[in-house]
Amino acid sequence: MSIRPPGPNGVPLFGNGQQFADDPFEFMTACADAYGDVVNFDLGPIPLYMLTNPRDINRVLVSEPQRFPKLDLGDDAIYDLLGDGLLLSEGETWQQQRELANPAFHGRRVRTLGDTMVNHTESMLTEWSDGDHRDIQIEMARLTVRIIVTAMLGTDIEEERIRTVQENLEPLGARFEPNAFRRLIPDWAPTAENREFRAAINELEAVIDDIIADRRGTGYTAGAETAVDADTDEPMDLLSLLLRAQDRGEQTDQQIRDEMMTMLLAGHDTTALTLTYTWYLLSQHPEVEQRMHAELDSVLGGDAPTASDARQLEYTERVLNEAMRLYPPVYTLFREATTDVKIGGYRIPAGSGLMLPQWVVHRSPRWYDNPKQFDPDRWKPERAADRPRFAFFPFGGGPRHCIGKQFSMLEAKLILGTVAQEYRLDYQGDALNLRGSLTMHPKEPVAMELESR
Ligand code: HEM
Repeated sequence: MSIRPPGPNGVPLFGNGQQFADDPFEFMTACADAYGDVVNFDLGPIPLYMLTNPRDINRVLVSEPQRFPKLDLGDDAIYDLLGDGLLLSEGETWQQQRELANPAFHGRRVRTLGDTMVNHTESMLTEWSDGDHRDIQIEMARLTVRIIVTAMLGTDIEEERIRTVQENLEPLGARFEPNAFRRLIPDWAPTAENREFRAAINELEAVIDDIIADRRGTGYTAGAETAVDADTDEPMDLLSLLLRAQDRGEQTDQQIRDEMMTMLLAGHDTTALTLTYTWYLLSQHPEVEQRMHAELDSVLGGDAPTASDARQLEYTERVLNEAMRLYPPVYTLFREATTDVKIGGYRIPAGSGLMLPQWVVHRSPRWYDNPKQFDPDRWKPERAADRPRFAFFPFGGGPRHCIGKQFSMLEAKLILGTVAQEYRLDYQGDALNLRGSLTMHPKEPVAMELESR
């Protein structure tokens, strides 16, 4: 008979919640170092097991995904926010929505968005000048909001609506920071945090409803920047796909709103964070920065990058992968074991939660020499070949892998290419402190000085 996995002692009622809330990154790493591939700890009402062996992660995500659906974290707030959108739905609902959404994310369609991505970046640059100090996380978040809205909704959003989206996304993040006490407070309790959270959702939903209404008003014809299907001439942005499905009776208003809310949230914050961490790392590693500049200069020669140039930016891609290895915006995945299961020699009971932490695996000396070092060349094919598939999984894996992976890689490369041809970004602050929210954020503003190249 296999035995129960080891793990740290918790305190009554709070379990390990406080340790996790204080510093989730340190806590997860210390647990893996002390107890190995499978660690048991207590963050809430159900037992939780952290898996850090890529073999076990592969099994959960790829080999037996139907046995390990997404974990209901017992926190209604996230369901309030994203409803039955792609990120949270399961079973047939998920399958149907994923099939419907897929065409909006195909490589061919995504490549048609390259010009939109570059145009938005160039318009950000018109506001920048040599010597400015800017909070790069905010700059990147503003830019990626604009891009995701145009790409998903097929329309340009006015400045005022963008501001409403940004201002309301902020308190949403705060609601999801680890907090040992939160499980004692119900979501209906009128705490300031819960009130702000509700108000932010209401505002965001109102903006989304307005945009949807505008699009309906245009008969969902393509906006100026919207790509159309080459055969049918129909716009292929996600909102058009959903509205056409609604005409066929396959989509409710609520589904469309949930899907849009999901895309808005999942589709901007992660890419903005990837870019923020990349700029930070580049500024700390001038030799890497120079190599990336050399590649940009030789492939682009001073012109704005296009989607086909992006394919040639191999070193830039390695830089992005290495940034996501060290700073994965999604720092852990959660799943549920629906049946008793044996993993890594241990018995895990049905109903347990599983944590699959990118943060720990990506920094493990088992898979990476000198794991804390920023070394984009570790992504050269000959050096990467021997690593197990799930030693690196910033976009997850299996059927629930990130639908926006190609979109965000293209976007990140084009933004880097457009900005880095004009500026280098200099960071003189302390080493970044991190906080775990829904995604992994810098704790303090990332102020950088712009230096014309
Ligand atoms: C660097 C940028 C990004 C990162 C690191 C990232 C990461 C992830 C990860 C790890 C998952 C899997 C979650 C799980 O298995 O529990 C995921 C799913 C998802 N992502 Fe992304 N993502 C990024 C960009 C985007 C973009 C640009 C979009 C939309 C345009 C997007 C939309 C989604 C959606 C809808 C899902 C749920 C897919 C499903 O379950 O069918 N993501 N993402």
